[in-house]
Amino acid sequence: MTILVTGGAGFIGSHATVELLESGYDVVVIDNLVNSDIEAIKRVKELTGIDFPFYQYDLLSYKQLQKLFKTYKFEAVMHFAGLKAVGESIEIPINYYHNNITGTINLCRVMDEYGVNKLVFSSSATVYGNPSTVPIYETFPLSVTNPYGRTKLIIEEFLKDLSASNPKWRVVLLRYFNPIGAHESGRIGEDPKGIPNNLMPYITQVAIGKRDKLKVFGNDYNTHDGTGVRDFIHVVDLVKGHINALNFLEKTIGIEIFNLGTGQGYSVLDLINTFSSVTSIDIPYEIVERRPGDIAICYASPDKAKKILKWEAEKSLRDMCKDSWNWQINNPNGYRS
Ligand code: NAD
Ligand code: UD1
Repeated sequence: MTILVTGGAGFIGSHATVELLESGYDVVVIDNLVNSDIEAIKRVKELTGIDFPFYQYDLLSYKQLQKLFKTYKFEAVMHFAGLKAVGESIEIPINYYHNNITGTINLCRVMDEYGVNKLVFSSSATVYGNPSTVPIYETFPLSVTNPYGRTKLIIEEFLKDLSASNPKWRVVLLRYFNPIGAHESGRIGEDPKGIPNNLMPYITQVAIGKRDKLKVFGNDYNTHDGTGVRDFIHVVDLVKGHINALNFLEKTIGIEIFNLGTGQGYSVLDLINTFSSVTSIDIPYEIVERRPGDIAICYASPDKAKKILKWEAEKSLRDMCKDSWNWQINNPNGYRS
């Protein structure tokens, strides 16, 4: 069974490729490397001891996609490729709408043309906006506050329309909470370009001395210690959920939505303290203004994934800190180390 992985050189896609190969699937990966490094592909091959085809293709090129689908008979597609930086999406919305939405439409067009109709799509908890209660269930109302989030919501709506149009489509939308951690080998991990936007890569860069101190964005939220609370999930747990989603697609029709989170909320200070306890490294920080657009608390109800996908996250916050640090210390400059 051959699975096409789009965005397979990226943080989550590279871990998913390892998981797919180790579960016995044949894999073909495409990535235009706009936010990743070819070294990630080499490391996935080295880690698994399995060679697989990689193409530096762009979802915006319909011709490249046709060439690919002419060459391989895919059973399903795992679609990770996309631009994901919230701040950048506000500055250059045209790129975000074009890349994420047109890219996904091109992918679905070519799938349709070649009779490939199973799709697992990377959505985000960002589509819940600021929820009125937690935990967050899949049935909660949706709203978004930035262009990146809007691309995810529009793609979700598009995929719902597509599924409604013809029962041959089988689609799973996976709404990720906050993926952190890395493969336990320390060979693949998250490799942000420039200054990290997200909390965990910022913490590891402070720990290794690349940044002086962490800015904690607000300590006046209505949470147990005043700092923001999130549902951090180990990337390896997250990608395991994708294998269960693939199995689920075998025996279902239509479209189904699942949260992928642990169901447990931890604050920014909880994460800093756990990281320090695991690594024995002090993380200097200062409390600054809230970051515009941030919400106080966000964590999943993972009940639906547990019940239907038979999946649940297993790794602890300590595991996440240990593996994030192991990746950082072994690759001080990411894949360019
Ligand atoms: P990433 O940037 O590391 O990986 C995305 C990959 O897609 C990159 O390797 C990039 O080069 C590639 N890509 C982008 N546009 C492309 C195009 N037009 N054609 C081919 N390749 C293209 O990001 P990630 O963290 O691995 O995220 C994977 C997916 O999960 C994204 O869709 C993202 O929006 C979604 N997601 C991520 C998070 C998170 O916190 N990391 C949370 C929720 C959802
Ligand atoms: C961010 C994105 C969201 C995306 C999610 C998963 C924004 C506004 N939202 O969410 O769309 O789906 O990542 O990748 O960017 N924090 C600090 N200091 C920092 C960085 C973060 O205090 O230097 C705090 C934040 O205020 C927040 C928590 O840490 O409370 C987590 O932040 P982050 O890792 O950026 O994730 P989200 O804001 O949840």
